[in-house]
Amino acid sequence: MEVKTSLLDNMIGVGDMVLLEPLSEDSFLGNLKKRFDHSEIYTYIGSVVISMNPYRSLPIYTPEKVEEYRNRNFYELSPHIYALADEAYRSLRDQDKDQCILITGESGAGKTEASKLVMSYVAAVCGKGHEVNKVKEQLLQSNPVLEAFGNAKTVRNDNSSRFGKYMDIEFDFKGDPLGGVISNYLLEKSRVVKQPRGERNFHVFYQLLSGASDDTLRKLKLDRDFSKYNYLSLDSAAVSGLDDAANFRTVRNAMQIVGFMEDEVQSVLELVAAVLKLGNIEFKPESRCNGTDESRVKDKNDLKEMCELLGIEQSVLERAFSYRTVEAKMEKVSTTLNVAQAYYARDALAKNLYSRLFSWLVTRINESIQAQTKARHKVMGVLDIYGFEIFEDNSFEQFIINYCNEKLQQIFIELTLREEQEEYVREGIEWTNIEYFNNAIICDLIENNQNGILAMLDEECLRPGTVTDETFLDKLNTICADHQHFESRLNKNSKFLNDHSLPHNCFRIQHYAGKVLYRVEGFVDKNNDLLYRDLSQAMYKANHSLIKQLFPEGNPAKVNLKRPLTAGFQFRASVGTLMRNLQTKNPNYIRCIKPNDKKASHIFTDSLVRHQVRYLGLMENVRVRRAGYAFRQPYEPCLERYKMLCKRTWPHWKGPAREGVEVLMADLQIPTEEISYGRSKIFIRNPRTLFFLEEKRKQCLQDLATLIQKIYRGWKCRTHFLLMKKSQIVVAAWYRRYAQQKKYRNIKSATTMVQSYTRGWQARKLLRELKHQKRCEEAVTTIAAFWHGTQARLELRRLKQEVRNKHAVTVIWAYWQGTKVRREYRKFFRANAGKKIYDFTIQRIIQKYFLGLKSSMPSMSPIDRKWPARPYGFLDGVHTELRKIFHHWRCKKYRDQFTEEKKAVYEEKLEASEIFKDKKALYPNSVSQPFKGDYLEISKNPKYQKLNSAVDEKVLLADVVNKINRANGKGTPRIFLLTKKNFVLADQKTGQVKASIPLPDVTSVSVSTQKDGFFALKLKEGSASAVKGDFLLSSEHLIEIITKLHRIGATAADREKLKVDISDEFLVQFKQDKVCVKFIQSSPKNGNSISCKRKNNRLLEVSVPTSP
Ligand SMILES: Nc1ncnc2c1ncn2[C@@H]1O[C@H](COP(=O)(O)OP(=O)(O)OP(=O)(O)O)[C@@H](O)[C@H]1O
Ligand SMILES: [Mg+2]
Repeated sequence: MEVKTSLLDNMIGVGDMVLLEPLSEDSFLGNLKKRFDHSEIYTYIGSVVISMNPYRSLPIYTPEKVEEYRNRNFYELSPHIYALADEAYRSLRDQDKDQCILITGESGAGKTEASKLVMSYVAAVCGKGHEVNKVKEQLLQSNPVLEAFGNAKTVRNDNSSRFGKYMDIEFDFKGDPLGGVISNYLLEKSRVVKQPRGERNFHVFYQLLSGASDDTLRKLKLDRDFSKYNYLSLDSAAVSGLDDAANFRTVRNAMQIVGFMEDEVQSVLELVAAVLKLGNIEFKPESRCNGTDESRVKDKNDLKEMCELLGIEQSVLERAFSYRTVEAKMEKVSTTLNVAQAYYARDALAKNLYSRLFSWLVTRINESIQAQTKARHKVMGVLDIYGFEIFEDNSFEQFIINYCNEKLQQIFIELTLREEQEEYVREGIEWTNIEYFNNAIICDLIENNQNGILAMLDEECLRPGTVTDETFLDKLNTICADHQHFESRLNKNSKFLNDHSLPHNCFRIQHYAGKVLYRVEGFVDKNNDLLYRDLSQAMYKANHSLIKQLFPEGNPAKVNLKRPLTAGFQFRASVGTLMRNLQTKNPNYIRCIKPNDKKASHIFTDSLVRHQVRYLGLMENVRVRRAGYAFRQPYEPCLERYKMLCKRTWPHWKGPAREGVEVLMADLQIPTEEISYGRSKIFIRNPRTLFFLEEKRKQCLQDLATLIQKIYRGWKCRTHFLLMKKSQIVVAAWYRRYAQQKKYRNIKSATTMVQSYTRGWQARKLLRELKHQKRCEEAVTTIAAFWHGTQARLELRRLKQEVRNKHAVTVIWAYWQGTKVRREYRKFFRANAGKKIYDFTIQRIIQKYFLGLKSSMPSMSPIDRKWPARPYGFLDGVHTELRKIFHHWRCKKYRDQFTEEKKAVYEEKLEASEIFKDKKALYPNSVSQPFKGDYLEISKNPKYQKLNSAVDEKVLLADVVNKINRANGKGTPRIFLLTKKNFVLADQKTGQVKASIPLPDVTSVSVSTQKDGFFALKLKEGSASAVKGDFLLSSEHLIEIITKLHRIGATAADREKLKVDISDEFLVQFKQDKVCVKFIQSSPKNGNSISCKRKNNRLLEVSVPTSP
């Protein structure tokens, strides 16, 4: 059974304002608020839908909802935009009436969202199939593309439509979509070059920069950073809840679905990039000889990149920014542009480029979505035009937008009244007129051909002589002075002379939606929409297919000296066409209301909504609707709904529905003046009557519900019982079957088991018998074999015994013969054989010894102590001698390898051992260190070249030593050079010679017994070198230095051998003083370093840490 619900069921507040009782502005608002608070955003005024913007997503647009509203009557369900869409679609399909859906409301009220909901609903309920789905998809996907290029964030709406859109969706006779046509109205192009504070440029710019791949951006010569572009406002570049990058992908995808080719998409993106680049071109003044300033492009990089993108010759565009050519009849005059004019030209070009691109996009989308057949079709138009706008600063754009809204309001007034009136006439019911505010007077103020504001603006723009915004305002002041909806300070009307809210450069219009103050600045320019011909010609010359198409007037072959049509004129004409178009269609209204100014959910600002309710004329709308009859309904659904209130109509009425309703109303004693019977509908004058009917129905429904429940419960129990009974039989049958099956399976398996046991037992018994038989046969064979074996062995033994006996006889015979011969020859053998055997044996042993020695010789290393063991005691002397000889021989071989230098080194090492071994603790460390001598590589290092040349002898040792300061015991690094004749101390950094001492003057060296590197060079008393005293030095290579010094002394014939004192306390002569240098051992601290300190005048203490 189909469950029928109604708009009157579960109603929150009143679903249809016509039923509001009592009707006042407050109750109207109260009802809206109550519904809004319960997330009921749609409310009807008759067939008009009021839509409150919820500013949050509600779960009321699901596919289930679409199904719920599909093919249902308008008042059958609670108010919803789907009900309106369904109604419009069905009357288009079934009654062949073209429809239009007019969505109005101020900016941010939800018009665009509503239009999309209507389109998606229609797409969901209309026919299906591959082709149809493609058309639907293309129609729906045109939205994201147009929104990207035509919508922007404003202070009122994050996705505000900055153009008007009217879309005709075309259907065939079955109601399947065939295609569509989009018309666009006046894009707000001034936004391209400048945006008010808190607003953004069109979405596409941000989407491109955020969403395009690095590669695409490189191709478009763009940078991801918004701040690089003058045309992009930065204070609100990122909008919360808007994902530009994701939207870019959506737009690209949508363009593909709509049918844009890859190269077309690329061209579009190039144009967008070019607009951004254009904004970065800046100008500077350049003085000319005649004293005027001429503009020049400041930094040509952006210009160059833009020209490369669009295939324009840079010089042509650059010239167009500096000169302007004016053609008049046969003459051509070229004037220079100053910087301000160049900026004006640049912005005009950017605006034109973008707005023409936008129009091209619309045309291109239309090409894709246009119906493929010429067959007659039905049309549903959806109008989503910019909402009424009142800003702080209103300009030409707002004037145009508000004019359009004025016209829509007018069409609303006209068509609502006409529709209402027509219905009464159609149904044969009397109609009385209702007063309402008709805004035709305002429309006339704006569009009147003689003295309308737009006409005057055009007149002013075309007038020769100086034309400014002020002259235009003057004109308005004179011509519109008496108009009751026009206000201006300079008006003759003294009323406004002292009105300070009305500045001198403004005029104010009392629109149907409120007063709006317009600033005249820019009106003339924007209306003229002038683009210098040089620029359009430069664009036409571009080597870029799309640009060429956008600037056809730049074609020099088609020079048109007529002025182009003004923006106002074009808009007025297109609005006129739109209005004519709308009037031929059946209108459906969606009146959008904005609940608050904060874009926030759940906030209902009373004053704001009240204002909208007022200017939208909603109260009048209700009144008009109620002046006639508050409620109407076709007879069939009415009878269906209330038939339970009368015994004669319940449960079925056999006759015509109208008679049934009449019987019903008479039975309920409804006064006759309360109701009228039309041709197809019943009209109820007062909402109270309807509520009375509803109340009665509710009571009756409760009784009916009890009855239905009673019957249902009885039916349910009976059915349940029967079902249980039937089920029990089935279950029992199944169970018995199951039990028998189980029993059968058991018996079967037991039988199989018994069978198998019996068979096994029989088989085993047979096997046993067979085995016994076989074993008996084998035993016989074995016994025979054993018997034969025994016989064979006995025979063999006898034969062996026989052979052995024979052999014994032969052996005994041979022994006996031998004994006989030996006895005979014994005396000859004893005389010679002994010595020969002895010599032979010794010879063999020695031979074996030498061969053994040869194979086990030790290595050639002189320090190898191995030697083979002696094999026989009598070879002891030889063995030792041979070992010595071998050792001497390998030592000689070893020495033969030595070069002279190596020999010298070893001699030095030997000498060092003689001097220091077991005397100085530092010595063992030096054994493994080679004596390198020249540590500084003095001859190779260019730094020491000077020093090298200062000593004429060969340098035996060069190293850095520390010269110990006599005063404080601190060391200063010095280069120490030793030659055969002297030693030199030089500065480490500069290489400057500090002291050069002949070696004969050095008498002795003193060092400690410990691990330190300190040594004192004592000089011959009275020698020239000894003036400053002895040297106390320290070096890492102490052992080497002293050994070398010692060797030189030993080899020189002219002097004594150098004395080396090794003691922990020695005296050093410093100038006149003798200082004792004392070495003490200290526990290791401060990083194991040796420290030298002057203790007093006579003592220098060196503490050497004990090695761990
Ligand atoms: N039915 C809805 N459900 C959820 N959110 C909505 C609904 N209608 C509108 N909105 C929200 O309000 C915002 C503004 O709506 P919309 O863009 O449709 O306003 P508009 O009337 O077209 O304004 P304009 O005249 O500036 O174009 C939307 O971006 C959306 O966030
Ligand atoms: Mg919009």
